[in-house]
Amino acid sequence: MRDLNQKKGRKRNVSAGTEVPSLSKGGPAPKNKNPIIYKEKPMISKALQDAINDQINKELYSSYLYLSMAAYFQNKSLPGFAHWMRVQESEERAHAMKLYDFLIDRGSRVALKAIDAPPSNWKGSPEVFTEVAAHEAKVTASIHALYELALKEKDYPAQVMLQWFISEQVEEEKSAAEIVASLNMIESHASAILQLDHRLSKRGSD
Ligand SMILES: [Fe+2]
Ligand SMILES: [Fe+2]
Repeated sequence: MRDLNQKKGRKRNVSAGTEVPSLSKGGPAPKNKNPIIYKEKPMISKALQDAINDQINKELYSSYLYLSMAAYFQNKSLPGFAHWMRVQESEERAHAMKLYDFLIDRGSRVALKAIDAPPSNWKGSPEVFTEVAAHEAKVTASIHALYELALKEKDYPAQVMLQWFISEQVEEEKSAAEIVASLNMIESHASAILQLDHRLSKRGSD
């Protein structure tokens, strides 16, 4: 098929809108006074890259927070609650890595930031899980804001990736709310708390 750009031995450089000599004629290559500079277009916008890096930090903070809660429950001799938190903290690290890998796969920069110190003491189990529920609601709002940005930037791969996080947050908020409800029913009945501790010890990795 005839190359429509090859006309009278000259090739059109569409991006620059100028004509450059064709090399197909043979003979020594002419010196090009205006070399074409190919400028790589980033696959992801700077605004979205920064926002994803912020989200990585939030996921790592979540991991830190739940690890601190796990230690709290371990000290209170509630190994089932501690186990639930350990599973939760490893999930949060996996969330951070999902975002990390996404940036790498798109040829973008990962910029890790300092992780804030989480609290280490609470008044009791209801307070801990109320904080989990409130924290997950904040993370959901952050994921939604990220998705809004991906829509604005017309970044379709980011939208697909973030849809997974949107579904995940529905689950996260649901499981935290269920435990808060159970703890509110139980109040301070020791045997019921131990039963719940046993139930939470059965949590597998999702
Ligand atoms: Fe998360
Ligand atoms: Fe979470």
